[in-house]
Amino acid sequence: MELKFEANPIEQVESDAVIVIAFDKESAASGLTPEVTMAVNAATGGWIEELYESGEFAGKSLEMSLLHRPTGLRAKRLLVLGGGKARTFSAAELRTAAAAAVRFLKSKGVRSAALALDAGDSLDGLITAAAEGAILGDYELDHYKTGEKETQPLESFGLVAPGADGAMNEALDRALIVAEAQNFARALASEPANILTPTVLSHRARAMCIGEALQCEVMDASAMRQLGMGALLGVAQGSAEPPVLIVLRYRPFDEAAGGVHLGLVGKAVTFDSGGISIKPSENMDKMKYDMCGGAAVIGAMQAIARLKPRIPVTAIVPAVENMPGSGAQRPGDIVTTLSGRTVEVLNTDAEGRLILADALYYASQQGCTHLVDVATLTGAIVVALGHLNTGVFANDDALLERVLAAAREEGEKFWPMPLDEEYKDELKSPFADLPNIGTRWGGAITAAMFLKQFADPLPWVHLDIAGTAYLEEKKPYMPKGPTGVAVRTFVTLATSWQG
Ligand code: BES
Ligand code: MN
Ligand code: ZN
Repeated sequence: MELKFEANPIEQVESDAVIVIAFDKESAASGLTPEVTMAVNAATGGWIEELYESGEFAGKSLEMSLLHRPTGLRAKRLLVLGGGKARTFSAAELRTAAAAAVRFLKSKGVRSAALALDAGDSLDGLITAAAEGAILGDYELDHYKTGEKETQPLESFGLVAPGADGAMNEALDRALIVAEAQNFARALASEPANILTPTVLSHRARAMCIGEALQCEVMDASAMRQLGMGALLGVAQGSAEPPVLIVLRYRPFDEAAGGVHLGLVGKAVTFDSGGISIKPSENMDKMKYDMCGGAAVIGAMQAIARLKPRIPVTAIVPAVENMPGSGAQRPGDIVTTLSGRTVEVLNTDAEGRLILADALYYASQQGCTHLVDVATLTGAIVVALGHLNTGVFANDDALLERVLAAAREEGEKFWPMPLDEEYKDELKSPFADLPNIGTRWGGAITAAMFLKQFADPLPWVHLDIAGTAYLEEKKPYMPKGPTGVAVRTFVTLATSWQG
């Protein structure tokens, strides 16, 4: 899809469809209508007003009305897109609205579209959001469908913003980089487990690094054995597929003073059967998504390498398949982690924390000063927060605030969870230093508390994306499947860090 600015006023834009945003009735009545929407209303002889009056359209968020051959416009169609409340309309809502509009128009066979933005002082942020929304909305997961595809990608998407300047062009470039990175993460995550094994994931990561400012290292099982990554290897031993540890390094040309070195760690269990503590078969297919954390980290690194923040960033992705093969680890096994501490594996389905324990500790050995991990870690976080918010755990308020600020800026919903020291009482093993599970309650917290012990004393944030990494049903702005959550937050976390 080609992304571009349209220099012409909206009436002159030649396109299969032009899109204008119209706010809810109250906002429209109080005069909070974008100028460009009023211009289109005038050009069409009051068509938008008529829509409101007829009761057919109320301007609610993501509501849509499509007119063919609109009078006074060069475009073939006019899409009036509901924006909800004008006062609370934000870049995040614009991103979603643009994505929903693209998906709707594609389903009607439209090949080119242009969205009208109102000239205003904070146009750069809106341009990035609208362009990202268009690219994210254009993304389909249909490459295993043979025969004719249900929808074709858009050929071009224009932003009608007369007088594009340097900053606006930069905003558009950033959108392309960030949204492509998020779509790349979604593409990796959507691959089924028979195709995307740990080894294949490492090949995809290596291929991505070619031509980017990234160094890629892939550690194999024997290297991990030499280092002593017993927790990671224990999870892998039930599968015929060998594990890998993928390390991607970005080093700035012009490093900021302050010595910050960000470590991004992502869980990549390419399939989680549960191992010997096997999962029920219902929904087990979703466990091909158990590598969404790793995919988010790899996707973010692509954008980071292109946007060139001033701090070094190292990505660490432990990749394994959790299977109940004859070599599988058993409940009751005791493994020695890279840190030297021993873990009693009471449930082989609590495997994410085992591979992350070794990966987090390895990140600290690599000189990282701040750690952020991302993982589809627990069903318990879905019970707590549903599918809307990512659960956020931290041992450091300053880093937590940085991550939450980046998420807010990027319109990703993150919700802080507690991590009091007392939760550690849940993690006692009579035979090893700690067990890999707690008691029944607060499962997302005890999982985070387990990880904390391998991240301490470094400032660390943990994102549990089990509820937000993939959609179980499609939304107007996104198809069913992986969402690419956390990619945008990671990119902004790195690029906004000035040392
Ligand atoms: N990958 C799962 C967590 C998960 C659940 C992700 C649902 C996405 C949707 C994880 O490895 C797991 O199995 N966790 C167990 C932990 C339990 C055994 C302590 C869980 O949440 O049930
Ligand atoms: Mn599991
Ligand atoms: Zn898992």
